[in-house]
Amino acid sequence: MAGPLLEIRNLTKHFPIKGGVFARTVGLVKAVDGVSLTIHEGETVGLVGESGCGKSTLGRAILKLIQPTSGSILFQGQDITAWDAARMRPMRRNMQIIFQDPASSLNPRMTVGDLIGEAFVIQGMAPDRAEREAKIQELLSRVGLRPEHINRYPHEFSGGQRQRIGIARSLAVHPGFIVCDEPISALDVSIQGQILNLLMDLQRDLGLTYLFIAHDLKAVEHMSDRVAVMYLGKVVELAGSDDLYREPAHPYSRALLSAVPNPDPAQRKERIVLKGDVPSPINPPSGCAFHPRCPMAQERCSRETPELREVKPGHHAACHFAG
Ligand SMILES: Nc1ncnc2c1ncn2[C@@H]1O[C@H](COP(=O)(O)OP(=O)(O)OP(=O)(O)O)[C@@H](O)[C@H]1O
Ligand SMILES: [Mg+2]
Repeated sequence: MAGPLLEIRNLTKHFPIKGGVFARTVGLVKAVDGVSLTIHEGETVGLVGESGCGKSTLGRAILKLIQPTSGSILFQGQDITAWDAARMRPMRRNMQIIFQDPASSLNPRMTVGDLIGEAFVIQGMAPDRAEREAKIQELLSRVGLRPEHINRYPHEFSGGQRQRIGIARSLAVHPGFIVCDEPISALDVSIQGQILNLLMDLQRDLGLTYLFIAHDLKAVEHMSDRVAVMYLGKVVELAGSDDLYREPAHPYSRALLSAVPNPDPAQRKERIVLKGDVPSPINPPSGCAFHPRCPMAQERCSRETPELREVKPGHHAACHFAG
C-alpha cells in the first residue's frame, strides 16, 4: 500500500505577542500546540472545533502559508517543514486552499478568466492564450458555471457562484490535496448543500484529498471519512466519522454533538451545556486544557495532560477517562 499523502508530526504554531517600547515578546498565542495527524490519499478528514481553537492556523501551517514553530510536515513522503517559498512553489500545484469568504479572497478588479488564469501563469502552465481560455472554460463548466462567465467580475455573481469561482481557481493547477477552510459557512443555507455536493463530486471525479474545516458537525459528518476534534490548539479526538458520531469518547466531542439538533427522537441525546467560554490560548489551563469546562473533571485533570491515545481500534481520544 502507498504511504500516507500527508503526515503531520507534533506540529506547533505559536504567535508571539509583542509588548512594551522594545516590542519584546511578552507572551505566546499557542494557536496550534502539538498536532499529529495522518491523511491518506482520497480521504476527507473533517476538522471541527469552536472559534479560535486553531483550525485555520493548522490548515495554513500544513500548506506552509505560515511557517510552523516546530514539528514536521511530510507531504508525499517529503519533509517540507523547512522549505522556503521558492522551493514550495512547484509543490503548491499539489496543495491548495479554498477559503470561507470567496468575496474577500477574489480580487474584485480581475475578471473570472484572469482570476483562474493567474493560477496557470504562476505555475507556468498553459502559456498559450487560446489553450488557457479553453482550460478556464472547461473548469467553469466543471464547477457548474457557464463558459461565457469568463469575462465577468466577481461582484456580478452570487455568494454561491463566487465560491464556485474560488473552487475553480484552486482546481486550475490540478491539486491532489485541498484544505477547505469553512467553504460553506458564509453562504445561505439553501446554497450550502449545493457546494458540498460539488466538492464531493469533484473529489470522486478527480481523486482529491480534503482537510475539511468546519464549525458545523453535521456538514462534516457527510463529507468526512474521519473527523478530528480540536480544542485550544490540540486534537482531542480522532475517529472514523461513524464511530465519532455514534460513540464520541471525549466529553468535549459529546458536548459539541449534543448541540446538534437530531430530528430522530430515538437518537436525540441530552443537551450538555458547557460551562464558560473557551479559555485563551495565551495561558491555556494546566493539565487537560478542557478541565475547567468538563462535566467529568477530577483533580488529576488539572495536573496531568492526557495524551491522544487509541481507546478503541482506530479511535483516539485525549481524556484520562475515555475507553
Ligand atoms: N497572525 C496571528 N497572530 C496572532 N495570533 C493569531 C494569528 N492568527 C491566529 N491567531 C490566534 O490563534 C488562535 C487560533 O486562530 P484560528 O484562526 O486558527 O482559529 P479557528 O479555529 O480557525 O477559528 P474560527 O473558527 O473563528 O475560524 C486564535 O486565538 C487567534 O486569535
Ligand atoms: Mg478559521
